[in-house]
Amino acid sequence: MSACLWLVVPAAGCGSRMKAARPKQYLELAGRPVIQHTLSRLHGALPAAKLCLCLDDNDVYFDPSWVPFSPWQRVSGGVERMDSVLNALQAIGSKARSDDIVLVHDIARPCVLPADLERLLDAVQRGPAGALLAAPVADTMKRDNGAGHVLRSEPRDGLWHALTPQGFRYALLRRALEQAKATGQQVTDDASAVEALGLSPELVVGRRDNIKITHPEDLGLATHILVAQRASDYSF
Ligand code: CTP
Ligand code: MG
Repeated sequence: MSACLWLVVPAAGCGSRMKAARPKQYLELAGRPVIQHTLSRLHGALPAAKLCLCLDDNDVYFDPSWVPFSPWQRVSGGVERMDSVLNALQAIGSKARSDDIVLVHDIARPCVLPADLERLLDAVQRGPAGALLAAPVADTMKRDNGAGHVLRSEPRDGLWHALTPQGFRYALLRRALEQAKATGQQVTDDASAVEALGLSPELVVGRRDNIKITHPEDLGLATHILVAQRASDYSF
């Protein structure tokens, strides 16, 4: 039997930086909630994946009719993103094989395109340490002095923005996140936990318009990105 593809989508955050009346995954974007866009993009490219959606237990906004995957399962969110992802990995523990592939994608990235998902999946299948979509840093980087002034400029050569999805074999990702948890390491992405094991996930160049809606102005930006993508010849 060949390895299964699992899709873990953390969607249990409260979106504090967005400063909106509801979590950002439930804000309207081009006529639909962000969560619906993201799930629909993922389903378009990976219809056979098994979805594990992490949601807050007290979520009052979620509507299961937005989920195009079948079957799929809901998992309780945790305190931090890494706790939500770990909950999902533990929830599928009895069904997942150690060499199954798990792609983790933020619900707050509704602009991901099929070609990026496919290239990422190829890289995860090839390499032993997993892979992540990433974009080379374009701006000049400054380090501050802690008081709002420049301490120095940092060379941007070799610096990347870590995007999602990030993908790993099931056993590796679970071991990495459990170890990060046990050692009190706060990781904001999955690759960081794998790196802490001494491994080197592959950087797969991803599109810069795969933004994570984080701050209020990002919603308008995402709207424009969706319009521009639809006007291009992408099929999704
Ligand atoms: N997330 C999660 N569980 C948490 C925290 C975050 O599932 N305890 C999810 C979010 O829903 C989001 C993704 O992880 O899809 C990336 O996190 P982030 O962009 O930081 O979202 P929030 O934590 O919701 O936003 P903020 O940090 O501004 O509060
Ligand atoms: Mg957060």
